[in-house]
Amino acid sequence: MAASAPGRVNLIGEHVDYNGGPVLPMAVARRTAVVAGLGHGFQAASTRDDVVDRFDPDGPMRGGWTDFLAGVVRALRRRGLAPAGAALAVASTVPVGGGLSSSAALAVAAARALAALGGHALTGAELARVAWEAEHDEVGVRCGTMDQTIAALAQPGKALLYETATGVTRQLPFRGKLWLVDTGVRHRLADGGYNQRRAECDEALALLRGAGWELPHLAAYPPARLPASLPPHLARRVAHVATETSRTRAAAEALGRGDLRTVGKLMYESHRSLQHDYAASCEEADVLVESAERLGAWGARLTGAGWGGTVVVLADERSAPRLILDLQAQFARIYGRVPEAWATRASGGAKREAARG
Ligand code: GLA
Repeated sequence: MAASAPGRVNLIGEHVDYNGGPVLPMAVARRTAVVAGLGHGFQAASTRDDVVDRFDPDGPMRGGWTDFLAGVVRALRRRGLAPAGAALAVASTVPVGGGLSSSAALAVAAARALAALGGHALTGAELARVAWEAEHDEVGVRCGTMDQTIAALAQPGKALLYETATGVTRQLPFRGKLWLVDTGVRHRLADGGYNQRRAECDEALALLRGAGWELPHLAAYPPARLPASLPPHLARRVAHVATETSRTRAAAEALGRGDLRTVGKLMYESHRSLQHDYAASCEEADVLVESAERLGAWGARLTGAGWGGTVVVLADERSAPRLILDLQAQFARIYGRVPEAWATRASGGAKREAARG
């Protein structure tokens, strides 16, 4: 059985999926493919490290990429959908640690292939849930549900407005191109920053509730009111979550009417909020975003978990190739290396693959 799933870029709506807010991601044209055959025990090989690795879904997590596979097996087992053993081969073009969610692409593709091996077909929502449980409950990354959801549900030519509090989704047309510029700075989601921000959001929510706010989740806090009663760093986190929530809904509306300039303006605002209020950017990303703005891009921002990874640029398609070259040159003058850049359209989500030939 073979299946594949895409990496994703989040257009806007950063660090709100674990706060009950809306997100607006789309799938990129780089994917992870998983081929699964029945086997005794579990083993996997990947194009990344060219060794065949045995792993034991009943054993402790080992801190490597096969943990995601073990997590998927466990999540499928709970549903009675996992094969007793499997041999897996993985090939991927999604950059690891680049903020494009290579882990969700792997988990979703593996879930699809392993379920198919037992003769089971999961719906997109089930697939997303299995992959999220694998990553969150089993591997122990305290991620939200955005990445698995877009990897499972993406449609070509569409961005997905996903309201994380209600689970309501809306496919919105995105026929243009996006440019992705890699800062070259690598983060690991399991490292401190992400979990620390989550804890700060939980703390802020508890304090606000204690002060009499009836909030189902932090994203429900009104964007126009700075929470003066909170310690300054928590007030800034809340300001980001509240304003990002309204920016994301505004961006979805603008996208619905094909107004990409407004989407771009909101992306710049999102980046500044991420940089100053959420303190989840990095210098290289700030430099890229500022240069993109000076060069006339409609919008740019750091996408994904933050502290490194990829800057997404939205620009007029005719002028974009020149603009990206200038952007790379400006970056290279400061950092002495040319950042990798590539263009993508909104791509499709997880699917079964038939062998060719
Ligand atoms: C990572 C997580 C997502 C989301 C983003 C930040 O990609 O996996 O759930 O929280 O960071 O928006």
